[in-house]
Amino acid sequence: MIIREYSMSDFKEVLEIDREAFNPRNPSFDMYVYLTYGSDIFVADIGRRIVGYVVTMDLDPLRGKIVSIAVKKEFRGSGIGEYLMRRAIERLREKGKKEIALEVRVSNTIAQRLYEKLGFKIVETIPNYYSDGEDAYYMVLRFNEQ
Ligand SMILES: CC(C)(COP(=O)(O)OP(=O)(O)OC[C@H]1O[C@@H](n2cnc3c(N)ncnc32)[C@H](O)[C@@H]1OP(=O)(O)O)[C@@H](O)C(=O)NCCC(=O)NCCS
Repeated sequence: MIIREYSMSDFKEVLEIDREAFNPRNPSFDMYVYLTYGSDIFVADIGRRIVGYVVTMDLDPLRGKIVSIAVKKEFRGSGIGEYLMRRAIERLREKGKKEIALEVRVSNTIAQRLYEKLGFKIVETIPNYYSDGEDAYYMVLRFNEQ
């Protein structure tokens, strides 16, 4: 398994992983936009098969964001999500970011554990953040706290 930069030829496979993870019924318009205009995107590639991705964004010169991350169901629990997150964090740090933010569903304890393991802390709850009414935790990783 290698973590490498996303290229447009990965587009369909990444959208498929996004659909499986988040939107079983609808194609994801947001992901379409991110995959076209997002800043740094990495994929986990096993023999040219994409099994996970992470999308990042620059919020401003000092702040970055993890916009989306997902691993194909059958490959979860084997460290791929953590590798993707570490690569994304490393890239944002290289770009001079002092903090990285993300939102996560309050019910998504698996993702929260991953983020906490990497040093993210919950700083706020955002009510009704998701279209189904679920709240989000706003989590932040600050490098000077490491
Ligand atoms: C969240 C997600 C990306 C994690 O990817 P993964 O490859 O399965 O995670 P890893 O195997 O790298 O695990 C890394 C850490 O995540 C946490 N974690 C992963 N699976 C877990 C589980 N089943 N139960 C509890 N914690 C879990 C643990 O902290 C783990 O570290 P550990 O192995 O030292 O305990 C994956 O579950 C996924 O794609 N979920 C659906 C999409 C999603 O929810 N994305 C996040 C939206 S904010």
